[in-house]
Amino acid sequence: MQLKLGPQRLSWLPPRFSRLLPTLVASIVFVLLVTTARLRNGSFSSVFRSPPPPKIEPPKPIRPPLVRLPLSSGQCTSDIEYLRQRNLDLSNSITYSRRCVKQLATDKFNRDDVVNISKPLITHKTAINLTDCTVPDPIPCDDLPLQVPFPYPAQQYKHLIFGIASTYDRINDSLPAFAHWLKNTNALLVGVVVDAEEEKEGQWHPNPNVDLPALERLYNKSGVTASFIAPALKVNPRNREPEKRTEHHHFMLIRDLLARSTNETRWLGILDDDTFFPSLYPLDQELRRHDHARPLWLGALSEAFSSVQSWGYMAYGGAGAFVSLPLAREMNPVLEECIADATVDTGDGIMRDCVYTRTHTKLTLVPGLYQHDTHGDMSGFYESGVRPLSVHHWKTWYHEPMPEIAAVTDLCGDCFLARWRFGNDTLFTNGYSIATYAPGVLERTDLSSMEGTWVRPGRDFDFSLAPLREPLARDKKKSYHLKDSGMTETGTFRQLYVYRGDEEKEENDEVVELIWDLQ
Ligand SMILES: *[C@@H]1O[C@H](CO)[C@@H](O)[C@H](O)[C@H]1NC(C)=O
Ligand SMILES: *[C@@H]1O[C@H](CO)[C@@H](O)[C@H](O)[C@H]1NC(C)=O
Ligand SMILES: *[C@@H]1O[C@H](CO)[C@@H](O)[C@H](O)[C@H]1NC(C)=O
Ligand SMILES: *[C@@H]1O[C@H](CO)[C@@H](O)[C@H](O)[C@H]1NC(C)=O
Ligand SMILES: *[C@@H]1O[C@H](CO)[C@@H](O)[C@H](O)[C@H]1NC(C)=O
Ligand SMILES: *[C@@H]1O[C@H](CO)[C@@H](O)[C@H](O)[C@H]1NC(C)=O
Repeated sequence: MQLKLGPQRLSWLPPRFSRLLPTLVASIVFVLLVTTARLRNGSFSSVFRSPPPPKIEPPKPIRPPLVRLPLSSGQCTSDIEYLRQRNLDLSNSITYSRRCVKQLATDKFNRDDVVNISKPLITHKTAINLTDCTVPDPIPCDDLPLQVPFPYPAQQYKHLIFGIASTYDRINDSLPAFAHWLKNTNALLVGVVVDAEEEKEGQWHPNPNVDLPALERLYNKSGVTASFIAPALKVNPRNREPEKRTEHHHFMLIRDLLARSTNETRWLGILDDDTFFPSLYPLDQELRRHDHARPLWLGALSEAFSSVQSWGYMAYGGAGAFVSLPLAREMNPVLEECIADATVDTGDGIMRDCVYTRTHTKLTLVPGLYQHDTHGDMSGFYESGVRPLSVHHWKTWYHEPMPEIAAVTDLCGDCFLARWRFGNDTLFTNGYSIATYAPGVLERTDLSSMEGTWVRPGRDFDFSLAPLREPLARDKKKSYHLKDSGMTETGTFRQLYVYRGDEEKEENDEVVELIWDLQ
């Protein structure tokens, strides 16, 4: 699984070139290392850092956008009309299956088990023509009883304050992700809107395109208590010029959050704008294991050891860092000094230097927070049985619709990413995928190891994600990935899993819909 570039593999090269090759490879590797290191924190990179991260294209529409003419009313039922939606980008003819999940809530659910169900998951396949909505009537929906845990208890999280520093547009676009984990929790989100003011000749003026109260109202409508503010730091402590560095505002969040703390506040969460928590409940359970009355700094390393070698032992920003009030109070008077003195100029790096040089606190690692310094296909991670408290880089370095994937946590909590095996060939990872394996492959697969599906898996991840196994070829494993989820018109919850047909082989898309009854 490692980069193998031995000379024996390259005998087709002219000899002169082969001799130069080690130097060439070394230079390329060096440049790659430096580049990936500099781009470690991808959330701001697309806006604020250059050059951009290695280009991983978002899943492309594989065919020209389809124009589906509206049908006359009554021609198409609402469940098929839903599949015709343009943003799902399904082929005109699809093979469709569905199951009606009956939740059997139990307190004996063992999240680490891969539960065996001897019968197949996909029981009927129906051809649907989405152009004219022809479909044999009615489409069967066999019951699928599934033992699941009870939902997480509804709880208030006034004791948590979260902070981000980002642009107005990105905060506006990020509402669905924040709403997923913050709605109706009473936790406070503080957003420093870095473009709320514009600098002209040393003076800061309100940006006419920014309406902070409107943004707060938008979040409020989705049940999120948010406070959006202009940056307080006007002068860059490093060079005394007007402050334009988002990373500095990110670090200064410590002061912004401290200012909003109450006698109930336990933790200040310093996040990137693309840090995603599948649910606040398990995060809070983990935080409760640490004494918030002591000076503490909680977080996670990068999973890539090369990142740790370049950036050091610190709470990597995208995974989420948690600072207790005693530590925040200790750092508050020296924040500007810390920015001026830091050996690196990223928010998490400044925090590292500041904690280590100005306090006696050390990093406390929290398992389950993920920085995700990984590119490409992260299915191996999500299908491994992992229980992530946080994930990151899901809309830049890889592409997964996290709010839709994690939506099922509202129904059955820890059932998210739980796995079931159907027959001897199908693995269902709740919220993420349905994968059917070629005959015999699933039996031979050690499901307790992680499939190294991303770009350059290998020894770099030994200390964090191992044991890893080789990625499977597309003909060994056919995956239906979750593309959408949400409530249906009839008050059930749907998950839509899609296998993209291979266009060259003129395959149609295949769709498996799981329709969950609410408990
Ligand atoms: C399911 O089957 C596999 C292989 O047959 C077995 O190793 C595993 O223990 C079974 N899981 C449970 C929860 O019984
Ligand atoms: C789907 O329906 C359209 C419109 O009736 C028709 O032109 C097309 O041939 C049909 N496709 C298939 C694969 O039957
Ligand atoms: C947020 O973005 C949407 C569309 O992208 C736009 O219609 C809306 O006005 C924006 N909201 C605010 C408060 O700017
Ligand atoms: C939304 O705003 C209203 C009116 O100010 C307030 O009563 C309510 O608590 C807010 N909701 C949230 C989730 O903050
Ligand atoms: C916080 O302060 C309020 C009054 O300011 C008081 O009523 C409340 O009991 C205090 N809560 C805690 C947890 O100390
Ligand atoms: C898997 O199950 C199917 C259907 O029960 C059976 O026909 C097939 O032989 C099994 N395959 C293996 C490799 O056990």
